[in-house]
Amino acid sequence: MNRLCSTILEILLDVISTVNGFPPSDRAALLAFKAALHEPHLGIFDSWTGTDCCHNWYGIRCDAESHKVADINLRGESQDPIFERAHRTGYMTGFISPDICKLTRLSSITIADWKGITGEIPKCITTLSFLRILDLIGNKILGETPADIGKLQRLTKKKISGLIPRKFGRLRMLSRAFEQFIGGDSSFSRENAVLSTLNLDCNNISGTIPTTLLTSSIGSLNLSRNALEGKISEDFGRRSYFTAIDLAYNKLSGSIPGTLVVAYYIGHLDLSYNHICGLIPAGEPFDHLEASSFTHNDCLSGKPHRAC
Ligand SMILES: *[C@@H]1O[C@H](CO)[C@@H](O)[C@H](O)[C@H]1NC(C)=O
Ligand SMILES: *[C@@H]1O[C@H](CO)[C@@H](O)[C@H](O)[C@H]1NC(C)=O
Repeated sequence: MNRLCSTILEILLDVISTVNGFPPSDRAALLAFKAALHEPHLGIFDSWTGTDCCHNWYGIRCDAESHKVADINLRGESQDPIFERAHRTGYMTGFISPDICKLTRLSSITIADWKGITGEIPKCITTLSFLRILDLIGNKILGETPADIGKLQRLTKKKISGLIPRKFGRLRMLSRAFEQFIGGDSSFSRENAVLSTLNLDCNNISGTIPTTLLTSSIGSLNLSRNALEGKISEDFGRRSYFTAIDLAYNKLSGSIPGTLVVAYYIGHLDLSYNHICGLIPAGEPFDHLEASSFTHNDCLSGKPHRAC
C-alpha cells in the first residue's frame, strides 16, 4: 500500500512538474548537494526554498527546453550585492556531494574561491555527459583528478561554431562529430561531446596528471598550485589544441614533452615552479612563450625564442 502511495505521489509530482516546468528530482539532488556544504556568512543558500529550483535559486540556471538544471554557478568572490552587503568574500566548508551527479543535464559547474571546500571530486562526475565547464578553483579539493574526466565529451549544435576558432579549426578531431551532427542524429553519443574547460587550480590535488586530460577535448586546463607530481605525458599530437595549459606551482619532474612541438596549437603554457629538467624544445609553442613560463625549475636550459 505504501509503495502504491509513493508511486502515485511520484506520478503526481511528475504531472505537476510537467505542468509547472520544474524538475522535482533535480530539486532533491540540489538539496542533498547543499546539505553537504556550510556557508555561514552570506546566506547564499537562503534562496534555495520552494518547489521550483529553476527560479530564483541563487546560482542555479535551468535549461529552457528540458527544464533541468544546466548550471551551478557559485563563486566565493563576485560582484553580487550579496557580497557587498556582507562586506566580505565567501567562505564555505564541506564537500561536493556525489548527489551533484544526479543533475544529469549539468553543462557547467563552478564552485570556486570558497577556500574551505575539501574532499575529492566525486568520481561520478565523469558520467555527466553534458558537462563542458568544471571550475573548482580556490578550494581545498584533495585526491587525484579522476582520469575519466578526460573522456567527458559533449558537443552540441550551438557550440560547434564557438569551439572551432576559424583560424585554426580542429577539423580532423571533430569531423566525426560533424558527420553525425549533419547526419541529423540528435542522440549525441558520448564520443562526440566536449568538456572544454577544467579549472582545478589552487587546491590540494596530488598524483600524476592523467594522460586522458591531455588527449581529451579539454581546451583550457588549469591545474596550477596543487601537489601534482611525476612526468608530464608525452601524449601530445597533431590534434592537441589548448588555449591554455597552466601547470605552474606543482611538483612535476622529468623533462618538457618534446611532442608539444607537434601540437596543433598551444596558446599559453606555464610550467614554472616545478622540478622539471632538460632542454626547452625549439619550435612552436616555445617560440612565442615568455621565459616566465619556465622559471623556478630544477635544471631547465635553453630558452624560449620569443620573436620581438
Ligand atoms: C594537502 O593534503 C595533505 C594530505 O593529503 C595534507 O597533509 C596537507 O596539509 C594539505 N595541504 C593543504 C595546504 O591543505
Ligand atoms: C590558473 O590559475 C591561477 C591561480 O588561480 C591563475 O593565477 C592563472 O592566471 C590561471 N592560468 C590561466 C592560464 O588562466
